[in-house]
Amino acid sequence: MGTETEKHVPRHVAIIMDGNGRWAARHGVERVEGHRKGALAVRQLVENLADTGIEYVTLYAFSTENWKRSKEEVDALMELLCEFIDANLSVMIEKGLRLLATGRIDGLPEKSRDRLKLAIEKTASNTRGTLILALNYGGRAEIVDAARKIASEAAAGTLRPDEIDETLFAKNLYLPEIPDPDLLIRTSGELRLSNFLLWELSYSEIYVTDTLWPDFDKAELEKAIVAYGTRNRRFGGRK
Ligand code: FPP
Repeated sequence: MGTETEKHVPRHVAIIMDGNGRWAARHGVERVEGHRKGALAVRQLVENLADTGIEYVTLYAFSTENWKRSKEEVDALMELLCEFIDANLSVMIEKGLRLLATGRIDGLPEKSRDRLKLAIEKTASNTRGTLILALNYGGRAEIVDAARKIASEAAAGTLRPDEIDETLFAKNLYLPEIPDPDLLIRTSGELRLSNFLLWELSYSEIYVTDTLWPDFDKAELEKAIVAYGTRNRRFGGRK
């Protein structure tokens, strides 16, 4: 990539990894095979991340709404999470990547939660990039959880309502130290936010591709970065 585009690499990219089911249908295989192929696309991203210049990637891996899927599919996704961690922890360590999670993590099955916590601990001091898995994540749930924390402080008398502003609210979200995403990528063509990072995506650029998540490779990521480089971000102001 030339210097001109390098200047405009997004610092934080959030991704709605959609289309695993459609990929499976197109290839005449079970849905879970689509998720498995999707996990391999995540593996590729892990391998390339440090070279792209992107500092943070947040992946929508399991939403608060995904529990509505069949037990078989939910169980397969939770198992896949454990397999993903087992297969990728050493690569993450080798590449200097830190793993974090966002969402109602305590609501995950114990096995997935324990694997996740261990991987987070083992990668905590890595500094070449951060991979954030959104698991049992909902944007509205995150806002409700922040409101509950703030309300309990107010009820305890340690916070006055007039002290609540956007900065204080943001400090009560799940990962307050992570900058907001600069770019949201959604694969498979759907034009929806699907309850992803509702607060944090307020000023993000949106890039939607028809490519299905399992086919989203390094070249697709580069296309998204180049498209981002041409955008003119104004944050509500004028250029
Ligand atoms: C959406 O595709 C994808 C998901 C609900 C799960 C995302 C999971 C992975 C990519 C694999 C596991 C990842 C990790 C990090 C372990 P869909 O099933 O809604 O696809 P469809 O809309 O085509 O049916």
